[in-house]
Amino acid sequence: MIEIEHLNVWICAGAREVHAVRDVSLALEPGAHLAIIGESGSGKSTLLLAMLGLLPPTAEVSGRLVVDGVDVLQGPEAEFNALRWRRAAMVFQASSNPFSPVRTIGRQLGAVLRFHGSTPVAARGRVEDLLAMVRLPTSVAAAYPHQLSGGMRQRAVIALALACAPKILLADEPTTALDPIVQAEIVELLFSLSAQLGLTLVLVSHDLQLVSHMTGDLAVMQAGEMVACGAVGELMARPTHVHLRDLITALPRFELTEAP
Ligand SMILES: Nc1ncnc2c1ncn2[C@@H]1O[C@H](COP(=O)(O)OP(=O)(O)OP(=O)(O)O)[C@@H](O)[C@H]1O
Ligand SMILES: [Mg+2]
Repeated sequence: MIEIEHLNVWICAGAREVHAVRDVSLALEPGAHLAIIGESGSGKSTLLLAMLGLLPPTAEVSGRLVVDGVDVLQGPEAEFNALRWRRAAMVFQASSNPFSPVRTIGRQLGAVLRFHGSTPVAARGRVEDLLAMVRLPTSVAAAYPHQLSGGMRQRAVIALALACAPKILLADEPTTALDPIVQAEIVELLFSLSAQLGLTLVLVSHDLQLVSHMTGDLAVMQAGEMVACGAVGELMARPTHVHLRDLITALPRFELTEAP
């Protein structure tokens, strides 16, 4: 479903050139789940943006990158347009509120569906289905974004990403600015939705604790390189790279003590 071979991305920022992704290779089967962790600036967002052909024009790219059969680096723009949102959708980093404040959630979800060809009646039904999928009550359709909690809004953002029934969902730090319990709920929702819908899920986080209990694969990025990749449980039990060992050692450990 996603095949990446020796991907390199350089981004020019004025006179400076950043080697943001260094020789990354990766293959994900349909329905696979991958969590990518890594420190800030390690290239996680750049890798996801590359998968949808959304890198800035100043970026230079080499390697091979095929997403759902579309050669993202070589293929014509028309092919990307068919890929984006319909076959592969993305929850962008820091997009906790992509909604307009002056329209209800239902109208905004409906507008996206109608843009992609739904009739008004079909769109209304689909909005209800999408809200149910992300475990929001139907009444949310009539709510304005400011009336929702951060966690509810993030669920609505996920519903938006799922609007066109993509096969691939890329979620870039979808839990930033939420409290730890809601973060865990959102990550659990993403993994269970992916299992239920057969989605290929790529979830970026910088929180190893949050993704360490999930099923699927874990990849660790450092300074643009993918320094470790493998089954989550396996890598957590036997970390193959010193950076992952350091991250595991740094995880907080809490123990409940009996009240006196
Ligand atoms: N549009 C851009 N212009 C200039 N440099 C960029 C741009 N996008 C990314 N970079 C640089 O590329 C490198 C990787 O950035 P990226 O945003 O992919 O990191 P990240 O792992 O997603 O970090 P974070 O956890 O903070 O989101 C960084 O050095 C960053 O400064
Ligand atoms: Mg990022």
